[in-house]
Amino acid sequence: MFSGGDAGAEAQPPSELPWLEKYRPIEVKDIVGNEETVARLGIIAQEGNMPNIILSGPPGTGKTTSVLCVSRQLLGAAWRDAVLELNASDDRGIDVVRNRIKGFAQKKVTLPPGRHKIVILDEADSMTTGAQQALRRTMEIHSGTTRFALACNISNKIIEPIQSRCAVLRYTKLSDEQVLKRLLTVLKLEATPYDDSGLDALIFTAEGDMRQALNNAQATAAGFGKITSENVMKVCDQPHPLLLKQLIDAALDGDFDGAHNVFAQLWDEGYAAIDVVGSLFRIAKYHECTEESKLELIREIGLCHMRVLEGLDSFLQMSALVALLCLPAAKRKRAAAAAAAAAQSRGK
Ligand SMILES: Nc1ncnc2c1ncn2[C@@H]1O[C@H](COP(=O)(O)OP(=O)(O)O)[C@@H](O)[C@H]1O
Ligand SMILES: [Mg+2]
Repeated sequence: MFSGGDAGAEAQPPSELPWLEKYRPIEVKDIVGNEETVARLGIIAQEGNMPNIILSGPPGTGKTTSVLCVSRQLLGAAWRDAVLELNASDDRGIDVVRNRIKGFAQKKVTLPPGRHKIVILDEADSMTTGAQQALRRTMEIHSGTTRFALACNISNKIIEPIQSRCAVLRYTKLSDEQVLKRLLTVLKLEATPYDDSGLDALIFTAEGDMRQALNNAQATAAGFGKITSENVMKVCDQPHPLLLKQLIDAALDGDFDGAHNVFAQLWDEGYAAIDVVGSLFRIAKYHECTEESKLELIREIGLCHMRVLEGLDSFLQMSALVALLCLPAAKRKRAAAAAAAAAQSRGK
């Protein structure tokens, strides 16, 4: 995984850069999705007086990118000297927080008028409570010269006193359309061949995470050349959605043998129970069927997911899931057949 710590990176030939970095938006306006949040950031970048901020939300939605864009826009040429970026791979114990930030806050840097130095703490929710307490004090002491931007997945993991000193900006998963749009832009610029099934597969496996989508796209392009669903699924090592769709179609038809054959094939290919259950859920959620059938499917998949997490992930347990998925349709079929037979005998 590549983190955003590229402030000091040497320039590389463009072709060797990971797409994540190569196509990381430079300006706030290039960030896709989360329109309200991004608009607020745009205003901060324009007006210049950046408050302390917390950016919270799922991975790969542009939190680190947003902070980098805002700080670059605020600080212009002074950016390199006036930003301190600490991410989870740096040591961020109490002493480091005190000393490095203190040293940075006291450093003299020529800034554009009315601007502040910026400390970026990426993945701040992985900092210990002790380090966060130290940070809170440091934030106060240096508030005249230095502003803080904390990115995290879950804002609850940031201690309350820090939360109350910050403006909280929330990010949500990107929509499939937003991921698609960005992917298309990148694929065109890279002149990578793709087909629609490949795009669908990238979006399916990314689940609203742009980092995932771009990484998988680059891995597929590097490994296979063309982006097709087959190739993407091989790279991502996930069960093929078409097979899972077949399984669900068979189940909705009450056809245990048909459904189980598909499952057995996936099992033979070496997929673990957790992969199959997770992917089945995502397929079932968007499957075209009656509301009632969908609820029945998801209920059983959810219960099976719990069992798998408890360690019951054998072939037999998964076969039982397939049986349970087939059961409602099989029952309905039998009831319909019985009703038809009854009607026929009444008619005689
Ligand atoms: N909203 C977005 N718009 C455009 N690209 C994005 C967006 N979110 C993520 N990316 C891409 O994914 C990469 C990782 O994004 P990042 O900002 O580090 O995510 P995180 O939210 O996990 O901090 C970026 O380099 C960028 O290429
Ligand atoms: Mg990040």
